[in-house]
Amino acid sequence: MKVQTHQTFESGLPKDDTHPYRTGAWQPQTTEYDAWDLDVEGEIPQDLAGTYLRNTENPLLVSPERYHPFDGDGMLHSISFAGGEAQYHNRFVRTDGFNAERQANAPLYAGFTEFDRLQTLNQPSNINLWPNMKDASSTDVVVHRGQALTSFWLCGDLYAFDPVTLEAQGRADFGGQFPKDGVSAHTKIDENTNEMLFFNYGLDAPYMHYGEIDAQGNLGHYRDVLLDGPRMPHDMAFTENFAIVNAPSLFFDPKLLAAGMQLPRFFRDVPTRFGIIPRRSNGAVKWFDAQPTFVLHWINAFEEDDEIVLDGFFQEDPMPKGDPNWTIDQKALGNTLDLHAIKSYPHRWRFNMVTGETKEERLSDRIQEFGMINGRFGGRRNRYSYNALPCKGWFGFEGLVKQDLISGAEEVVQLPAGVFASETVMAPRIGSTAEDDGYLITFTMDLNNNRSQCLILDAQNPTADPLAAVSLPERISSGTHAFWQPAAAH
Ligand SMILES: [Fe+2]
Repeated sequence: MKVQTHQTFESGLPKDDTHPYRTGAWQPQTTEYDAWDLDVEGEIPQDLAGTYLRNTENPLLVSPERYHPFDGDGMLHSISFAGGEAQYHNRFVRTDGFNAERQANAPLYAGFTEFDRLQTLNQPSNINLWPNMKDASSTDVVVHRGQALTSFWLCGDLYAFDPVTLEAQGRADFGGQFPKDGVSAHTKIDENTNEMLFFNYGLDAPYMHYGEIDAQGNLGHYRDVLLDGPRMPHDMAFTENFAIVNAPSLFFDPKLLAAGMQLPRFFRDVPTRFGIIPRRSNGAVKWFDAQPTFVLHWINAFEEDDEIVLDGFFQEDPMPKGDPNWTIDQKALGNTLDLHAIKSYPHRWRFNMVTGETKEERLSDRIQEFGMINGRFGGRRNRYSYNALPCKGWFGFEGLVKQDLISGAEEVVQLPAGVFASETVMAPRIGSTAEDDGYLITFTMDLNNNRSQCLILDAQNPTADPLAAVSLPERISSGTHAFWQPAAAH
């Protein structure tokens, strides 16, 4: 392996740190690397071409009161494959907040679960829902028009990079029309049209907007979406002709909000509402009521006769009480991150555009989340979903599940104890036509061998031994979202 250090930062974390999301599988890095001729067990397939990107919450400083992993600084990882070879790069996302804290050498912002500081601090940021929070751009990443774009789970800026080398390329500005309310994580790429779809949300009416960036990079369309009040949806979906947004049943308590306090609560009797928005037009939004829930992530959506079919992960208990003996610190982490306590199951919604009826069904009795598909099938009927297998009691993935949405069959890839996976992408093989003809790609956090590898699995036989395990320069931290960008010649 040929490795060059790009830059090393000084960590402000305690040497004897014991925080569960700054140690073990979540131990942050301080060094940025460029690496080529990576060591490979097995063989990188010749017909694998493109880039696997993954964003990470990777803190450099300690929060004064309470750290939640969603507060961590963004670090982007990129591994690119061509001709049986691989190169790897990682970079911090040098956001305005990151630069301000490096200059001050002190944490300046309030964390997601630092309830008092969120209300009382006076540290302006561009996060309009909690104006004292840092836009770390650490949540999500997609590639649009040859640029990797990182985003934050609350609405913020999009930071641009060369997807292969991770050379920073400033911020997306949509030709001077970047929305003042920012852009939420989970911008969507329609691989069939090369459009990027996005949404944002805020405290003031209309509370949500929906937008489209066309294949030329212009803000082709941007419209109000009027909700009943402030809501905090996390993800959106799309079909060939519609975008799908939602107003979940977990939102700021209106009574407290009137008193100036922004505390989310799950309202068990308030339906989750879905808005079906015609793409590329100002046509009316059609609304559907469904069972109360909060959905972190959608898998895919498609049109079938009169219906819009939407797959995602239904949460039975979006704000679990957890263990009564938990301290407030443990509760702040436990009730937002333990997908087993939250009870997150694959689920299908059907919205009948003619009758206005909603139908729902559970797709599996196995706890799953973070589903990915072959990107060519985005917005089109898909058969397969590749979902993360969450750890019990904390936020990590102990494997993955290939789910056949037609037969209901599930193939489970369970990693050895002490080895954890990332969000796993499906990379179609060059020249493939079958939906699952390709490779599953993930980064591991291997605590047993103190290393990280990029695993390449056969998507048609995921439980077989990996085709290749490619070593990274050092063990990386767990993180959240990943993306597969096929090579241009694809
Ligand atoms: Fe997400």
